[in-house]
Amino acid sequence: MTRVFSGIKPTGHLTLGNYLGAMRQWATVDQHRADALFCVVDLHALTVDHDPARVRRLSRQSATLLLASGLDPDLCTLFVQSHVDEHARLSYVLECVATDGEMRRMIQYKEKAARERERGGSVRLSLLTYPVLMAADILAYGTAEVPVGDDQAQHVELARDLAVRFNHRYGQTFVVPKATLPPVAARVMNLQEPTAKMGKSDDSGPGIVYLLDEPDVVRKKIMRAVTDSGQDVVYDRESRPGVANLLEILAACSGADPEKLSGGYASYGALKKDTAEAVVELLRPVQERHRELCADSAYVEGVLRDGAEKARGMARPMVDAAYRAIGLLPPV
Ligand code: TYM
Repeated sequence: MTRVFSGIKPTGHLTLGNYLGAMRQWATVDQHRADALFCVVDLHALTVDHDPARVRRLSRQSATLLLASGLDPDLCTLFVQSHVDEHARLSYVLECVATDGEMRRMIQYKEKAARERERGGSVRLSLLTYPVLMAADILAYGTAEVPVGDDQAQHVELARDLAVRFNHRYGQTFVVPKATLPPVAARVMNLQEPTAKMGKSDDSGPGIVYLLDEPDVVRKKIMRAVTDSGQDVVYDRESRPGVANLLEILAACSGADPEKLSGGYASYGALKKDTAEAVVELLRPVQERHRELCADSAYVEGVLRDGAEKARGMARPMVDAAYRAIGLLPPV
């Protein structure tokens, strides 16, 4: 069975972008067709200025929302990254295979480091090595496929490069993974700034639909979305990014094609209204299940405990093999 691994970082409240770009695919497709692991990657949340209590709270909330969005512990393994030591153990070894030039070329590093410096802060070393830890997450499980949104494709490419390089230098050890992207909504854009990704760590609340937003808040955000100059509804990401974003969101909610959908609308107002209702209906069952799960924190904890134990059992032989291959003396 194909091994699938993916993760989500507890740096903010989860968004419609996370859901359409990744989580929905995990729940409706991946866990049914593959031997799938999903991980709340809390170590990654420490790479930028963070509040310890908030990271803890968001880690629990992210795990709860993953279950609410349909992940089933009987079908997949759900766990928290820091509960499985193998991620950090393998990350160090992969740092000995990666180069600093490779790290500095990563788009997300360049953007986030620039943002930190603009704020007058310093850049944590872990922000630079972030993609190596992500490669360790993936390679520790013999992962073949990594279902992600478009913004993570470069990081998965690096994991591929490191796997190939390690295998070439030290002998066949890792499976070489590849990214899989959803057919639509691989990059949901900010409603107020449709040329920028809808990101959970951004500050611009009105442009971001959060999974736990009340229906009226969702409606308001979508009705106020920035659209483009012009009147007709056409699907063109380059010249009409605002309208294209709404068409993609609606298409992702309804299983339709954004181009075809555009023909059915004579005004932006009607498109916004239908998109808002489609998103409200999409989120309704997730929010209901989330409420139920919040009342049963023992269940969520049990899932994470069992998940970490299963994940440890899978990762340990792979990481031990990598340690042996690279020349570390096995413990006696
Ligand atoms: P993160 O937490 O930023 O996002 C989690 C998943 O959601 C997708 N996503 C989006 N998709 C479409 N439109 C958007 N606006 C949008 N925003 C986010 C992301 O592409 C991702 O699939 N580095 C990763 C976490 C990670 C990981 C891993 C992923 C760590 N280790 C190993 C896969 C495998 C991240 O920060 O995702």
